[in-house]
Amino acid sequence: MPHRPKVIIGNWKMNKTIAEAKSFISGLALAAKQSAFQIGLAVPFTMIDAAAETARGTVIRIGAQDVADREEGPYTGEVSAKMIVDAGASFVLVGHSERRRCFHEDDAMVNRKIQGVLKVGIQPVCCIGETQEERQSGQAYSVLRRQLLQGLHGLSKEAIASLSIAYEPVWAIGTSQVATPEIAQETHAFCRSVIADTWGKEAADRLIIQYGGSVNPTNAAALLAQSDIDGLLVGNASLSLEAFTSIVLTHM
Ligand code: PGA
Repeated sequence: MPHRPKVIIGNWKMNKTIAEAKSFISGLALAAKQSAFQIGLAVPFTMIDAAAETARGTVIRIGAQDVADREEGPYTGEVSAKMIVDAGASFVLVGHSERRRCFHEDDAMVNRKIQGVLKVGIQPVCCIGETQEERQSGQAYSVLRRQLLQGLHGLSKEAIASLSIAYEPVWAIGTSQVATPEIAQETHAFCRSVIADTWGKEAADRLIIQYGGSVNPTNAAALLAQSDIDGLLVGNASLSLEAFTSIVLTHM
C-alpha cells in the first residue's frame, strides 16, 4: 500500500473579511497542530497575504481558489500564478465546478491553468465532478475520464504525482447530499485507474485524491476511512471554526 498523506482543505469561496480570516486562522492553529492531516485553507485573493502572514509558524497552508490561465499582461481583473505565490499561496484550486458552471471554464482552460501553476512551483488542486444528470444517465465515468485526460494533458509523471485531484460531484456541492463512502471510494478508485492507464501505476499511487461535496463533522470519518480517499475539500463547513476544527480532529 503506498503511503499518501491525508489532506483537508477548507474552501471559503466568496466569504469572510481579512479580520475574520486572521481570527479564524489563529483559532485553528492548535487543532491543526494536533491533527493527523495536512491542513489548508483556500481563501479569496484579497486575504492571501494576511492569511499567509497569520499562518506563518503554524502547520496551516494557505492557497488560492483560482488563478489566471495567462502569465501576465493586459487582462484586467485577472490574478496570475506568480502573483498568488508572491502573496503567500502554496496551492491553488483549479477548475472548481462553480468556475466551470458560472464562468464557463472548460477542460482546455483548466489545463492551461494547471500548466501555469506548475511552472511557478506550487500545487494545483484540480477539481473534477459529474452533474446529477450525468450520473443518472450512466455518463459519470466518461465525464470524469474526459476531465482528467484533458485537464491534465501533457503533464509529466512527476507532475501528476505532485498534484492533488478533488473529486467533487456537482450534485453533492452545497446540497447536503453527500456521496456515500462507497460511491466516493468507487469513483476515486476509478479516477486512479484512469491516471494509472495513462501515466503509470507509480504516479497514480502517489497522487492525492480528495473528496468534496457536503462534507461535515458527522460524515468526515467514514469518507476518510476509504482507501482511495486521501482527504477532503470542505466548503460550507469550513466557514465555521467549530465545524472545521471538529473535521480536522477526526479520529482515524
Ligand atoms: P460544500 O462545498 O462543502 O459546501 O458542499 C464543497 C466545495 O465546493 O468545495
